[in-house]
Amino acid sequence: MTDSHEVQRRDFVNIILVGLSSVIGLIIGIPAISYLLSPAVKIREEEAWIPLGPLDAYPLDQPTLFSYTRTKINGWEKTVNSFGACVWRYGAGESEVKVYSNMCTHLSCRVSWTEETNLYVCPCHDAGFNKEGEVVAGPPPEPLYEYETKVEEGVLSIKHMEV
Ligand code: FES
Repeated sequence: MTDSHEVQRRDFVNIILVGLSSVIGLIIGIPAISYLLSPAVKIREEEAWIPLGPLDAYPLDQPTLFSYTRTKINGWEKTVNSFGACVWRYGAGESEVKVYSNMCTHLSCRVSWTEETNLYVCPCHDAGFNKEGEVVAGPPPEPLYEYETKVEEGVLSIKHMEV
């Protein structure tokens, strides 16, 4: 009879200890696991408005390169990428501006504006794009990517997109 009571008391204590251990483990473990996993599951904003400075600082009818960098965080991996935006003011008005990516749509080489040819030239496979970003020579399958723009209080901004 006494042995049976001993066993029951021991079982009861064991059950209580296991229960308490589990509760303490959950109290400590859930925040710790959340902290460790949160960077990996966070969704990062890939779009952002990038200010390119006063619109008036860009010359009329002369595509001008503006370079900027963006830091991308993917979990614990942090990468810094550089981008180029070619600003073309085709008129004096605030809405008379177009901005193209300087990334070639063929294999992503960088294009640059050349006065001699009046084209954005890609040196990788001798491609050419006109001022409107349209392909006029070479293998690129699409025109240059055109950024969405806005001008607020005289400052030109583009909507950055990972392209
Ligand atoms: S990468 Fe520009 S033409 Fe091939």
